[in-house]
Amino acid sequence: MQTFAGKVAVITGAGSGFGREFARIGARLGMHLVLADVQADALEAVRAELSAAGSKVISRRTDVSEDSEIAALAKATMDAFGSVHLVFNNAGVGSGGLVWENSLADWSWVLGVNLWGVVHGVRHFVPLMLEAATREPGYQGHIVNTASMAGLLNAPNMGIYNVSKHAVVSLTETLYQDLRLVEAPIGASVLCPYFVPTGISASHRNAPSAVSGAPATASQQAAQVMSNKAVGSGKVSATEVAERTFEAIRADQFYVFSHPHALGNVETRMKDIVGDRNPSDPFAARPDVRDALRNALRAARQG
Ligand SMILES: NC(=O)c1ccc[n+]([C@@H]2O[C@H](COP(=O)([O-])OP(=O)(O)OC[C@H]3O[C@@H](n4cnc5c(N)ncnc54)[C@H](O)[C@@H]3O)[C@@H](O)[C@H]2O)c1
Repeated sequence: MQTFAGKVAVITGAGSGFGREFARIGARLGMHLVLADVQADALEAVRAELSAAGSKVISRRTDVSEDSEIAALAKATMDAFGSVHLVFNNAGVGSGGLVWENSLADWSWVLGVNLWGVVHGVRHFVPLMLEAATREPGYQGHIVNTASMAGLLNAPNMGIYNVSKHAVVSLTETLYQDLRLVEAPIGASVLCPYFVPTGISASHRNAPSAVSGAPATASQQAAQVMSNKAVGSGKVSATEVAERTFEAIRADQFYVFSHPHALGNVETRMKDIVGDRNPSDPFAARPDVRDALRNALRAARQG
C-alpha cells in the first residue's frame, strides 16, 4: 500500500499503546480513521485529540472478542466512509501464570481478545476490502495483525498469551497466502513486538470480573512482577514501533519486529525443531531472569 491520504483505516485497541500511535500516524498521513477500544474514556481522549487536529475520525466502543460488536464496527465504517483500506487488528491483553493454574475465565478472556478479536476482524473486514477492490480503480489495501515475539517463542509462565499469539502468527501467515491465492490487491503483515512500554502490563484494567475479581495465583503474581519490569524498562517506544509498521505496510513486508536482535531465540527454536532436539532454555542468555522466576515460584510453594 503506497498512498494513505484520504484512505480509511480501522484500528482496534486505539485508546492506548501501539493502537494510539497507529492512529496518530494515520492522522498525520491524512487518513480517515475508525477507532475502536473497549475502554471508552481512553478511546474518547484519542478521538478528541485527532479530531481537534483536523482529522476525519469516528470512534466506537467495541469489545473485539464479540463478533456482533466487530460486525457493528464494520457497518459504522461503511456508513461513515463507504470503504476500508487499512485494518489494524491490534487490541490485546497480557496474562501470565503456569498453564495448569490458569482458570477457564483466564483462557476465555485472553483467547477471546487476542485470538477471536483478530478472527472477527478478518472475517468482517476482508470481504469489505475485496468488494471495495472491485469498485475502486487502483485499490490497495493492507491488514496488520498484532501478535508478539511470544507468537514465535514459548517462554514459561505465560502459556495462554503464547498460545494466543502463535495462533495470530499462523492466522496471519495463512491470510497472506490466501490473499495471494486469490490475487487480491491486499497485503498482510504480522507485528511481533518484544517488550515495549505501553499499558499492556495493566491489562487487567479491562478484564471481566471473573478474571479481575479472582485472587492472583503465586505464578500469576510472579508473571506480573516480570512483566512490569520487562515492559517498563523497554528501550524502544510505541511510536517507533508504529513508524516501523507503517514502513512495512509501504514496503509490503510481512514480519514486523521491534527488536530484531531477539530473533536469535527464534533461530534456536527453529533449529531445535529441525534438529529433533528438546526445547532449549529460553533464558539461556538471561539466567538471572530464570533464577528470579524460579525462586519466586519456589518461595510461593514453600508458603
Ligand atoms: N507492549 C508490549 O510489550 C507488547 C509486546 C508484544 C505484543 N504486544 C501486543 O500489542 C497489542 C497492543 O497492546 P499495547 O502494548 O499497545 O497495550 P495497551 O494496553 O497500551 O493497549 C491495548 C489496548 O487494547 C484495548 N483492549 C483491551 N481489551 C480489549 C477488548 N476486549 N476489545 C477492544 N479493545 C481492548 C485496551 O483498552 C488498550 O487500549 C496487543 O495485541 C499486545 O498483545 C505488546
